[in-house]
Amino acid sequence: MAEFTFPTGFLWGSATSAHQVEGNNTNSDWWAWEQAGKVAEPSGLACDQYQRFRDDFDVAQSLSHNAHRLSVEWSRIEPEEGRFSDEAIAHYREVVTALRQRGLEPIVSLHHYTNPLWLTKQGGWANPKVVDCFARFAQRVVESLGDQVSYWLTINEPMVYAVMHYLDGVGPPGEQSLPAFLRVIEHELRAHAAGYHAVHAVASAQGWTARVSLANHAQPFPPCRRWHPLDRFAATLAERTYNQGFLEAVMSGRWRFPGRRTMRVHDGRPTMDFIGMNYYGRVFLRSAWRGSPWWGHRCSTQHHPEVTERNFLEWDVYPPGIRQILRWALPYRLPVLITENGICTTDDRQRERFILNHLRWVARAIQDGVPVIGYLYWSLIDNFEWAKGYIPRFGLVEVDYVTQARRVRDSARRFAEVCRTNRLPEHNG
Ligand code: FCB
Repeated sequence: MAEFTFPTGFLWGSATSAHQVEGNNTNSDWWAWEQAGKVAEPSGLACDQYQRFRDDFDVAQSLSHNAHRLSVEWSRIEPEEGRFSDEAIAHYREVVTALRQRGLEPIVSLHHYTNPLWLTKQGGWANPKVVDCFARFAQRVVESLGDQVSYWLTINEPMVYAVMHYLDGVGPPGEQSLPAFLRVIEHELRAHAAGYHAVHAVASAQGWTARVSLANHAQPFPPCRRWHPLDRFAATLAERTYNQGFLEAVMSGRWRFPGRRTMRVHDGRPTMDFIGMNYYGRVFLRSAWRGSPWWGHRCSTQHHPEVTERNFLEWDVYPPGIRQILRWALPYRLPVLITENGICTTDDRQRERFILNHLRWVARAIQDGVPVIGYLYWSLIDNFEWAKGYIPRFGLVEVDYVTQARRVRDSARRFAEVCRTNRLPEHNG
């Protein structure tokens, strides 16, 4: 591929989430879940970023990033139902101001997997009440930070959240129920729409700019056995529902889950100003008529002939897939922000290859006409990878969890070159 220059103003940076980096997130449902021994290891102090955010943002700035994605922690901001903490809000004002001072555009997620305990105790996202609670929280956050923040993401990976917490039960409240899962998706769609309008209402009353989306987890679902009709059927259904169906519902207000009636989840006004896309790799599906709403089970990437590379957690590594998922956004004619893409590995050269190879396919998607406006690597620093704990290393920057020392990896420097020059050098191979 010849040298490629990214569009002017391209957003370059990395992403994190509050619970995974801040430490001592004691009022959240994930914290309680960890204390109950449900994970490989508890999050504890994490990367202590609640204290060290300025130092970490210095590193991002030194790596030529011009944007940074983070989440604000609902359980800190609203520790009791209806009571907002001035202290937590002041903290996040310092955080976004620190980003701005370093020339980093803040991209703020309002929900990234964790909830205040009071909400989870009342049924969490399976309770319709969450819609109003979330909108009230969104309003409060935007009133407090909206002069500093233009890019908002309501919910991180609504589909993954629903699967992990209400179907696979690997996060709080640990449910494994298809009806609960479907209710959660409906509430996420409604809460996203309510949050979207809440953000805009505040911003337009104040004369602030706001661009609102969510971080949509997109993954191609090829069949395990390429020519097997049932595997192909399962894969197609999963792809339509999980990827396109969800985006479609966000835009049109109509949500259709196969075998269920179509549901209206908002008034039909589109509720995305840009599309946030998280991409990690493909998931191969084998048909299964019981026990999975996707009519399929994941098959292991271990022996699959089409999988040529894996990350530390055995997830498929497939750079061309990023072009594929970006092309799904074409019909919406909206700017697309890659809100996450990354790899956990013990081999930093693999990380460097991962980033450059994905960026080459992003470049192709741009050549195809997809209006990509930025790329955020997951993650700035190694962090708490949910049920898997601290073993997987996703960071551009290594964290020593004993001393909290940071060490910039070579892959980070290579990525910094791209960020600094806004260009990918020629590639022969
Ligand atoms: C994404 C999540 C993020 C992190 C990465 C590895 O699905 O949004 O929190 O766990 O995976």
